[in-house]
Amino acid sequence: MADETLSNLLHENRRFEPPAELAADANVKAEAYDRAAGDREAFWAEAAERLDWGKKWDQVLDWSNPPFAKWFVGGEINASVNCVDRHVDAGRGDKVALHWVGEPADDTRDITYAQLKDEVSRAANALTELGVKKGDRVAIYMPMIPETVVTMLACARLGAPHTVVFGGFSSDALASRITDCGAEVVVTSDGGYRRGAPSALKPAVDEAVQKVNAAGEVTVRNVLVVRRTGQDVAWNEGTDVWWHDVVDGASPDHTPEMHDAEHPLYVMYTSGTTGKPKGILHTTGGYLVGTSYTHWSVFDLKPETDVYWCTADVGWVTGHSYMVYGPLANGATQVLYEGTPDAPHKGRWWEIIEKYGVTIFYTAPTAIRTFMKQGDDIPAKFDLSSIRLLGSVGEPINPEAYIWYREHIGGNKAPIVDTWWQTETGQILISPLPGVTAGKPGSAMRPLPGIVADVVDDEAKSVPNGSGGYLVLKEPWPAMLRTLWGDDQRFVDTYWSRWQGLYFAGDGAKKDEDGDLWVLGRVDDVMNVSGHRLSTTEIESALVSHPKVAEAAVVGAADDMTGQAVCAFVILRDNAGDGGEDIVTELRNHVAHEIGPIAKPRQVMVVPELPKTRSGKIMRRLLKDVAEGRDVGDVTTLADSSVMELIKAREAGNA
Ligand code: WTA
Repeated sequence: MADETLSNLLHENRRFEPPAELAADANVKAEAYDRAAGDREAFWAEAAERLDWGKKWDQVLDWSNPPFAKWFVGGEINASVNCVDRHVDAGRGDKVALHWVGEPADDTRDITYAQLKDEVSRAANALTELGVKKGDRVAIYMPMIPETVVTMLACARLGAPHTVVFGGFSSDALASRITDCGAEVVVTSDGGYRRGAPSALKPAVDEAVQKVNAAGEVTVRNVLVVRRTGQDVAWNEGTDVWWHDVVDGASPDHTPEMHDAEHPLYVMYTSGTTGKPKGILHTTGGYLVGTSYTHWSVFDLKPETDVYWCTADVGWVTGHSYMVYGPLANGATQVLYEGTPDAPHKGRWWEIIEKYGVTIFYTAPTAIRTFMKQGDDIPAKFDLSSIRLLGSVGEPINPEAYIWYREHIGGNKAPIVDTWWQTETGQILISPLPGVTAGKPGSAMRPLPGIVADVVDDEAKSVPNGSGGYLVLKEPWPAMLRTLWGDDQRFVDTYWSRWQGLYFAGDGAKKDEDGDLWVLGRVDDVMNVSGHRLSTTEIESALVSHPKVAEAAVVGAADDMTGQAVCAFVILRDNAGDGGEDIVTELRNHVAHEIGPIAKPRQVMVVPELPKTRSGKIMRRLLKDVAEGRDVGDVTTLADSSVMELIKAREAGNA
């Protein structure tokens, strides 16, 4: 982030105290910080008591072989039982778990905990029939429909780790994930609704399965298909199975097995600094403790009265932790919405809040900025007075967006929790506590009780207040990733090798004069576009896989709407000539096809050379200057300092 932005941020001095009523009745009070600091393990053990265990743990934390943590050692638990059965057993079966809202108007379903339990049990029985056993991986490529949640919980019930792949990813991305985790069963649907029209999903699965099976390393045995849109689908006899044929008729009784606390719950792929996505492994007990506790404390959830809505897609970690596992373990009533915020009209989200009386709303800054641009009059048409708490996640929230969110969605009273965490951390780690912390627009404030985070300099020394550095975690936490699927060494190298004993998150941060934290964004080659993580290297590899491209460099450039935007610089192959008139469109579409539409570069610049150091490393910093329209800084370390002149000249020509 530019220094100027940073100093603007640190001059931000508005403070919003917690509303008195909320503070008085808050689930978690200030004393929790001291209690957790006094005995962290006892604190997390108490959080674990909020769940139902088949067998209690013998040891809260085993950190004898860092960075490989084991939490609640010896304990046995079933995540699905905690998310459904226990609420039914406690007499809350008639409570609505999901207010599902399809994109087409009036296409809605309310699903109670009792119904959810039956559906999860049926799906678990059906998956068992399809040969899924404890330990087998199941890939899920689905729209935002109840069956997606049901499938995840059914997998958890069986102890078959799921890997949900975002429905916006390409068939290649899906194929590589299926192969990496060795999934033999894929669950999908014919399609889903996006902006008023059915959008197909199954063709991408068919392509992916073909690729995977042809490569021969893994064989996909079955594809289980939910009929959502009714569109035509190609059918592969012997492999494809309709959901309604095998799940609907299955028994709603399923006796769950308790799994070891460290049994794998799921693998979620995320972008790293290299081209190959990382399979983040989360296990059962600690993950459920971390997500349920933070969902209850950070959102101050009152399960009897609150209606909670997280707008994330279930294909991202936010959908896993704060739509499926956290809220359902807490017995929350929540909204699950299939479509986009602007279909069929720009007030759709606010209409949903009004209709269901949503009290807690969790979304991303990029969405807030889009609404700001569309105008205050749109949310003003709806009654949003039910809102009592707002959350933000995915990227730093700029003060303007924070203030707009508070004013126009939160009625100038609802506190905002700016929650910092990652796919790797599994649970929120840094956030205000709504009944305790006075919020500052743009600051994620303090590590939660039980979390030890800091900002350090290059020598791993804690920086003084008023200074910036790298965000690190100093102690393990229950929902932390346990490793990268099949790659312990990469796990150690990626997160734990920069400084002995510290987890390096990849983010830069600053402590203000009060010691509160301001997360500034990634300091590595990971970009954050609309809250989605994308790797520069991954997009570069996609570009060079195009026959006309010789070399490519990608940077994330500041963008008012999306936070960062993908900007690509490419050198064409000699035999590609000037690439033709439509080369830019061709390359943008190529990236969308290889990775997914979210990775499509905002800008592709065809350049004659790339700036490289004498050792041949591309100097992305200089390209970022170009992409952000700044004067190019120091070029003395370049092998050929005239390169930047060439690029600048070409850019002026392009403009
Ligand atoms: C960024 C999403 C500032 C950060 C849950 C992190 C944030 C990356 C915030 C993880 C926040 C997330 N303030 N930055 N409140 N929340 N980030 O894995 O750069 O998709 O490292 O997890 O998003 O993205 P991921």
